[in-house]
Amino acid sequence: MNSKKKNFGNVLQKRSRFSLPYYGKDLVKWYYRFVRGPTTKSKENIQYIPKRFALNILDSKKPLTIVFIGDIMELKERDLVIGNGIREFIKNADYVIGNFEGTITNEARLYMDQRHKLQIIDALTSLFQPEQFFLSMANNHSGDFGRSTFRKSIKLLEDSGFTTFGTIDRPFVDIADTIRIIAGTAWSNRPCEYIVNFFDTPRYINPDLFNILYAHWGYELYCYPNKEMVQLAKAYLDDFGAIIGHHSHAPQPVTYEKYNGINKLVGYSLGDFSYGDDYPKNNLENYRYGIILKVQVGEDVKGHMNVGEIIWEFIASHPYENDSFIVEIIDTLPILEKKD
Ligand SMILES: [Fe+2]
Repeated sequence: MNSKKKNFGNVLQKRSRFSLPYYGKDLVKWYYRFVRGPTTKSKENIQYIPKRFALNILDSKKPLTIVFIGDIMELKERDLVIGNGIREFIKNADYVIGNFEGTITNEARLYMDQRHKLQIIDALTSLFQPEQFFLSMANNHSGDFGRSTFRKSIKLLEDSGFTTFGTIDRPFVDIADTIRIIAGTAWSNRPCEYIVNFFDTPRYINPDLFNILYAHWGYELYCYPNKEMVQLAKAYLDDFGAIIGHHSHAPQPVTYEKYNGINKLVGYSLGDFSYGDDYPKNNLENYRYGIILKVQVGEDVKGHMNVGEIIWEFIASHPYENDSFIVEIIDTLPILEKKD
């Protein structure tokens, strides 16, 4: 394994006693950002590519269209409503991939948990047909309520038609016999031996398929990846055809790296697909932003599977009628204007 792949904290076993995923300086860094809000530090490292951009020229008559969304966070006892712009963006997709952060349960709340209501299933079903909607469980909240409650939660999702992955039992999903999406997390708030460790993701690569890494990684409320994250992404592009990340609760650039004559997609973080809390009463309103990303994958002129055109938009959740939250497309990201 490339040494650059080892320099990023693995806390699936080693976790903070505060039921946070962080220790030591990562814990200090997290608390500082929680209090101060998001930072645009490291802006010089990476820039966004345009919202509509052709990474490579495809030769496929009908490439697959996959929409990726970020962290599906809970709404603090309220319902999630999907805005019409997002439905329109997603409606011509062949598949949708999202990160289901948390557990559907009525058990008593725990410190820093993510506890979803059953309504989240109706909301996601209204967004896209569950049979082609794949939900990764490889994130820092799958251990919140323990294995037994987690299993009940994924059974509720699967009984509704969704496919879950990112677990030790099902680390990846294959699409149309040509694409493999492998999920892994670098963080966990609590002990969790049943989800895929980020550092184990290369072992699930199938060299005959186009392998996409769907990674729960990075640092919270950073609007740009630091140098180590950029190095890590480059190292993993040795193995993967594309990387799409999440966990930072702030969107980070959609961009690409040139690699042996092709352009490899890197979406550093899609931020939060949904987020509901008592904002604007508290500083958690900074957590409500994300990106939706549409990716065409097909054969290029040399007959290799590759990413063609991508389209992306910023999104935000905000309070809505009947005590719910709605997620909608927005033009610009207010937190990018913030001065550190
Ligand atoms: Fe997370």
